[in-house]
Amino acid sequence: MKWMRHSSDKISNLKRPTDKTVHCRTYEQTSRRYIANNPRHTMSAVNIPVNENEVSVSSSPITSYGSPVSGSFQGKPRQRRYSYTAARTNKLKPFSTGDIKILLLENVNQTAIDILEGQGYQVETHKSSLDEEELIEKIRDVQVVGIRSKTKLNSRVLKEAKNLIAIGCFCIGTNQVDLEYAANNGIAVFNSPFSNSRSVAELVICEIIMLSRQLGDRNIEMHAGTWNKVSAKCWEIRGKTLGIVGYGHIGSQLSVLAESMGMNVIYYDVIMIMGLGTAKQVPTLAELLAQADYVSLHVPELPETMNLMSKAQFDGMKNGSYLINNARGKVIDIPELISAMKSGKLAGAAVDVFPKEPAKNGSNEFGSHLNEWTNELLTLPNLIMSPHIGGSTEEAQSAIGIEVGTALTKYINEGSSVGAVNFPEVNLNVVNHAEEHDHVRILYVHKNVPGVLLSVNEIFASHNIEKQYSESRGDIAYLMADIADVDQADIKTLYEKLEQTPFKISTRLLY
Ligand SMILES: NC(=O)c1ccc[n+]([C@@H]2O[C@H](COP(=O)([O-])OP(=O)(O)OC[C@H]3O[C@@H](n4cnc5c(N)ncnc54)[C@H](O)[C@@H]3O)[C@@H](O)[C@H]2O)c1
Repeated sequence: MKWMRHSSDKISNLKRPTDKTVHCRTYEQTSRRYIANNPRHTMSAVNIPVNENEVSVSSSPITSYGSPVSGSFQGKPRQRRYSYTAARTNKLKPFSTGDIKILLLENVNQTAIDILEGQGYQVETHKSSLDEEELIEKIRDVQVVGIRSKTKLNSRVLKEAKNLIAIGCFCIGTNQVDLEYAANNGIAVFNSPFSNSRSVAELVICEIIMLSRQLGDRNIEMHAGTWNKVSAKCWEIRGKTLGIVGYGHIGSQLSVLAESMGMNVIYYDVIMIMGLGTAKQVPTLAELLAQADYVSLHVPELPETMNLMSKAQFDGMKNGSYLINNARGKVIDIPELISAMKSGKLAGAAVDVFPKEPAKNGSNEFGSHLNEWTNELLTLPNLIMSPHIGGSTEEAQSAIGIEVGTALTKYINEGSSVGAVNFPEVNLNVVNHAEEHDHVRILYVHKNVPGVLLSVNEIFASHNIEKQYSESRGDIAYLMADIADVDQADIKTLYEKLEQTPFKISTRLLY
């Protein structure tokens, strides 16, 4: 794991904490002590005097929760009684989970709703995105917002999101979020870049066979009443060579599937990767293009992959070969693809992604007003076009819901930012302190400037730091520390001192 490389940041056990008795307490007792409404500033709750005889249950249980609050934020969260048994399943959630409010837009998958409601959070769901004013109104109140691709979380919206600690993008891309603004305000953004790899790989297999059998054209003809039974230039795929460009999550899945269909697989990637099965890496793109009967692109959109397939590359392909693009629209120089198909160099192509794609579904959304070559493309035989559906399956949506839902839960409950796209990735194991109630986990997001660790460790100095890990990314850094031998007064002092540091972005304490 990444943090292991920074073991110098880790301070090992100094002494064992003393035994403490666990006391059961109700939600009300607990909520007095923790500022559950604002987990970003959890510690201000310690300003409320507490009974000295009470021992802080260092965690909230999950197992004792009844059915979760759902649907609406109206009404008070249900009261929950902590039990000793439940406290033993220690999770770092000192706030009442029922006070965590989550807004899910754009019909986020039920798997995510189940995970988040299962934690006891209040979850409000909407089938579509909201207009900006409505979004601002709702986002003010929540700790987490979940979106897909249509909701724009720009700085104007995020400025109003004073309670927000995390954003879940239940999709691949995160362009719809102002990532920098979010990071600078201590808001971690999570997405799910690889949950749909299998779906894309399966579509490519489908397209390889469809192109080989000219199935797209036969289908169009049949819809027009034309019977055109032909076998000329229709092929089996067995024994043919598939060239995969980009052997990452999708490329490697495709490799396995293609080989099981009897294809020979070669691949080109900018990094050396061990091939699966009998797939072989080739050293250059040109070599792959010269050997492959089918070329399938699976590279990310980067400056170096713009027009990766242009005139020289099409010229370098085998006569009568096929090109498949489920990666990104700008990876192909489409006018050159049109020329290659018209000249007969290519026997067919499948294109799922385009340089400019419509913002919404609907007739006449895809036309030459978006890409000037569209009409020409439409006239080409054996060209399969699809509306960016490579990863669009029920299974992928379900997997995305699970991945992002779980990442959000871990961030809320434990502070783990693993998988965040705009945030340093930090994680520490959650130690079972079921019988040790003098621990606090400090989650401190700060500006990445010299001297912070020194100042922070001065604040921690008189306590037993069990574990500590810090990671930076760009202008911000994230420090996580587990501290033992602290009582309520210590926790209050720690929080206040951290809050007063000039480089602080946000402080959260879990205990
Ligand atoms: N059509 C869809 O619905 C859909 C769905 C998911 C992903 N995608 C797209 O598929 C592409 C691949 O996704 P992935 O999850 O496999 O990504 P990945 O990051 O797992 O793999 C990409 C691979 O490409 C390699 N690479 C980078 N630059 C290269 C270059 N210039 N030449 C050769 N190889 C290069 C990388 O080393 C890596 O191995 C991405 O563009 C992604 O956006 C499309």
